[in-house]
Amino acid sequence: MFDFLLSNRFLIPKLLQKANLLYEAKKFAEASKLYQKILHKDANHFAALANLAVSYFELGEYANAAEQLYLVIKKDYNNPWWHNYLSQSLQKQGNLSGALDEGWLAVSLSNGAMEHQLNLAYTLYEISAERGVEFVIPQIKKWYEKYPNNAVCKQCYKSFFYDKSFIRSEAGYVENLFDVFAPDFDTVLGELEYHSPQLISDCLVEYFNEKKETSDLRILDLGCGSGLCGKYIKASFPDCKIWGIDISAQMLRQAQQKGVYEHLIKSDIQDCFDSIGLNFNVVISSDVFTYFGTLDSIFSAVYNILDSQGIFVFTVTKNIINDKDYFLTTSSRFIHSEKYITKLLKDTNFFTIKKEEICLRKEGDKDVLGYIIMAQKM
Ligand SMILES: C[S@@+](CC[C@H](N)C(=O)[O-])C[C@H]1O[C@@H](n2cnc3c(N)ncnc32)[C@H](O)[C@@H]1O
Repeated sequence: MFDFLLSNRFLIPKLLQKANLLYEAKKFAEASKLYQKILHKDANHFAALANLAVSYFELGEYANAAEQLYLVIKKDYNNPWWHNYLSQSLQKQGNLSGALDEGWLAVSLSNGAMEHQLNLAYTLYEISAERGVEFVIPQIKKWYEKYPNNAVCKQCYKSFFYDKSFIRSEAGYVENLFDVFAPDFDTVLGELEYHSPQLISDCLVEYFNEKKETSDLRILDLGCGSGLCGKYIKASFPDCKIWGIDISAQMLRQAQQKGVYEHLIKSDIQDCFDSIGLNFNVVISSDVFTYFGTLDSIFSAVYNILDSQGIFVFTVTKNIINDKDYFLTTSSRFIHSEKYITKLLKDTNFFTIKKEEICLRKEGDKDVLGYIIMAQKM
């Protein structure tokens, strides 16, 4: 007995140290084997229980993750992250009511922390797509009753109970969403076959190579995010100077690391135009207008900040749901009709040079359709 206890006393910390190194290196399969070994010796070892649960989750073994998470929650009920992981694991196994309950518990136990609000919003969206809007309505009502002023909750509520007066996304929603998403943005968007930044750059190459006037281009990137557009454009126009505007500090941090922007400014697009104090040859915006419904004031401001005959290149998501000019979908994104965009460009005094329907990215196995548009100031 004494030998057994003694060997555990020395062996478990050693195994744990090794397992944790593998876990931190994201070698979850190897780490999970060592955590199992530890639990074989001490079934109540909390760190091993918790890290084994997360390892299973990361390996996509959701049934094992859920089983393990129930044990973890028994010991540490008040930690919202266990409920967040459990919510996602249950959803993956098709237990949608359980997923909603656990997502809600994570929000409540964290006193409404943003990461858990965002997770609940995404869970509600995915479950509504699978089971229909009616299935999630009671949960959304309960959520909105408790957090009517939370930007994520408000955005989600408005997108499920379509509200015509809601003409742009909540600034707090967008900022928090992208602050949380920023470190993984490039990788995730790569996996979703997101090509808009490359396509926008290609449009500029096609236009300016014909003109042969590419030196000293001044380009404004509205909603520059992690700097994907800047990366492609700078590779084609090494002498250009690119200004980037974004509301998310963490996205700007990613953009800064790419080293291709002349200036990066943290601002809401709608408030940035007066303070820049400079005119541009080109304004671009890739996958940003999906956070706005009405675009008239932005298009006018772009017109005013462009040099004579300046170029405006952007993407919008196609409204495939109804014939409204713009519509806020349950994914909390706005979609626009081609008719609306075309009319708005004309009314603002832009001449449309190019308009092409494209696949913006994948969502599951579906294509998200949109338009890439290049217009010129008249
Ligand atoms: C889907 S990302 C696209 C980023 C980048 N343009 C690209 O194509 O990779 C949308 C970006 O728009 C920014 N954004 C959305 N609404 C904004 C607003 N009102 N003001 C400033 N930035 C905004 C977000 O913070 C995010 O970085």
